[in-house]
Amino acid sequence: MDTVIQIAKDSFWVGANDRETDLFEAVWPLPQGVSYNAYLIADKKTALIDTVKNCYFERYLEKIHDRLPQGKGIDYLVINHMEPDHSGSINLLRQVYPEMTVVGNKKTIHFLEKFYGITENTLIKDEGDELSLGSHTLSFSLIPMVHWPETMVTYDKSSGVLYTGDAFGGFGALEGSIFAEELDIPYIQTEILRYFSNIVGKYSPMVQRALKKLQGLNIATIAPSHGPVWRKNPTQIIDLYDRWSRYEAEEGIVLIYGSMYGNTLKLKEEIDRGIVARKFSTIRTHDISRSHPSYILTDVWRYKGIIIGAPTYNTGLFPPMDYLLRLLENKKLKNRVLGIFGSYAWSGGAVKRLRGFADNMSWHTVEPVVEVQGNPSPDELHKGYKLGRNVTDAIKNA
Ligand code: FEO
Repeated sequence: MDTVIQIAKDSFWVGANDRETDLFEAVWPLPQGVSYNAYLIADKKTALIDTVKNCYFERYLEKIHDRLPQGKGIDYLVINHMEPDHSGSINLLRQVYPEMTVVGNKKTIHFLEKFYGITENTLIKDEGDELSLGSHTLSFSLIPMVHWPETMVTYDKSSGVLYTGDAFGGFGALEGSIFAEELDIPYIQTEILRYFSNIVGKYSPMVQRALKKLQGLNIATIAPSHGPVWRKNPTQIIDLYDRWSRYEAEEGIVLIYGSMYGNTLKLKEEIDRGIVARKFSTIRTHDISRSHPSYILTDVWRYKGIIIGAPTYNTGLFPPMDYLLRLLENKKLKNRVLGIFGSYAWSGGAVKRLRGFADNMSWHTVEPVVEVQGNPSPDELHKGYKLGRNVTDAIKNA
């Protein structure tokens, strides 16, 4: 959707859909695009909640002009989050509305200077502070590290709309509607989880803290800065974020492998056979040389069992797998069941790194750990079979 849409009394979506950027943060693929949601509250005083990535400024401004009452400017720009996908148009907007006051907390104001050289026309709001626009009163709550230290949410006390920044957001441009109840949620939920696991999941303990803080609010609508607006059933997205940030998982196994010449692949195939022998079929397979880590992270966040195997490369772990492990270590995902396997030619190294990963993550590691030199023997293949079987048993008993 790329027109102005009313989300509540006096409140309008003035965001933009980005279907051109290939990689979010220059890291994460965007095959279905992403939305930068921003909102206009047109009261006696006018307020914008967030901006859009700077290349979409023109579309944003057109929408603002479309809904701004004749002769009115913008009184306040509330910045819930300073990452440039939301703050990128601030200086362009200030050129159009030089009298506009930028509202944020102490940390926002610091970032405003560092990112955009802005030191004037700012207003600091702290936890629980309010801002009256006329019939609408905005109240601010700090939710640090969801996703940056300055992140906050803005609650409209009269309409019950909670403007949440990255919290409750997802990847995917808004197609056909901006409202969750009009969209195919099971389909878009995968892109929301991919966003959560890639961007916000590292800060899950802070998401939990934020959820507790917001419990007391009477929330009619959740209006995040990416993805759909949750108007009919806001608890649906709150529950998802709650589950994901508690590291809850579904019964399933993600099998991630790398193989240069097929020897590690032979082990992987025996592991598969061991899983299927337990009459279990929820297996998600990723060849680390071909799957983008963004999608692997999504599956790892979703499922309980993780089996990882790769060969040794230059006395260390196969580099694409090492990159994935570093991402997982950085995300600090908890409570998973792990199986590991690997191979080497003339020097070990892969399994040593995988054992180190298991220690770093404190996941439950299932035996046997399988390590082979060159082509796996029948006994070694059988060990792979047992690994698949044992991981399946472990996730069923978890
Ligand atoms: Fe959507 Fe952390 O910015």
